[in-house]
Amino acid sequence: MLEDPQGNPPVEEVKNYLDCRFGDERSLLHSIRTQCKDEQLPEIQISVHVGKMMYLMAKMQKAKRILEIGTLGGYSTAWLAQALPHEGRLISLEINEEYAEKAKKHLKEVRGPNIEIRVGHAVELLAKIAESGEGPFDLIFIDADKENYALYLDWSLRLSREGTVILIDNLIPKGPIVGYPCHDEAKHVYAFNDYLAQHPMLEVAVFPTLTRKQGRLDAMAVAYVKGPFKVLLNRP
Ligand code: DHB
Ligand code: MG
Repeated sequence: MLEDPQGNPPVEEVKNYLDCRFGDERSLLHSIRTQCKDEQLPEIQISVHVGKMMYLMAKMQKAKRILEIGTLGGYSTAWLAQALPHEGRLISLEINEEYAEKAKKHLKEVRGPNIEIRVGHAVELLAKIAESGEGPFDLIFIDADKENYALYLDWSLRLSREGTVILIDNLIPKGPIVGYPCHDEAKHVYAFNDYLAQHPMLEVAVFPTLTRKQGRLDAMAVAYVKGPFKVLLNRP
């Protein structure tokens, strides 16, 4: 390991230090994470620390309705569901049928709130949710295909009220030069970041996240919907 010229510890040591003290998860969460790994789902789910942060945000928000775009194996879904009261409701959207089936199985043990995994293209599912009047949601988590992030944000705003919190994962794409769109996904994410940063309906903060596998720095946004809703054209 290369010595840091400023004498700071390597990232891995910081991570281990924090994991030891704050990295505990309830057995249910641990079991879902282990099952996802055993089933060889891509290891791209949120970290324990981010899961706990999202859980606490949902709790502070006193969320009763949560929407998730991108279920994967249901690990983040389970963190969010634990913040809901018994009468709470969580809808999670997943395009991959195999992931959705696995998530449904993993989430069977989560007691209390109603959790529904819907399978299909998120844009179509979001349009149906808007049509059926199932919103507004108190918290929305966007963590799906990056090329449609701007669309997902637009739909999320349509399914929001003043005070809704929108969390958005993966604002720093892979690639050697930050800010430089060296592949298609990076192009979409960097364009999305500019859209997000300037959005007239949102107050946005970002925090860095450490991806599990590569020890790579990524970032998550916390966006507070402040209105005005007249910015939305054709709001249903
Ligand atoms: C990756 C990480 C994510 O959080 C995600 O949603 C998609 C991909 C990745 O590291 O490849
Ligand atoms: Mg992600």
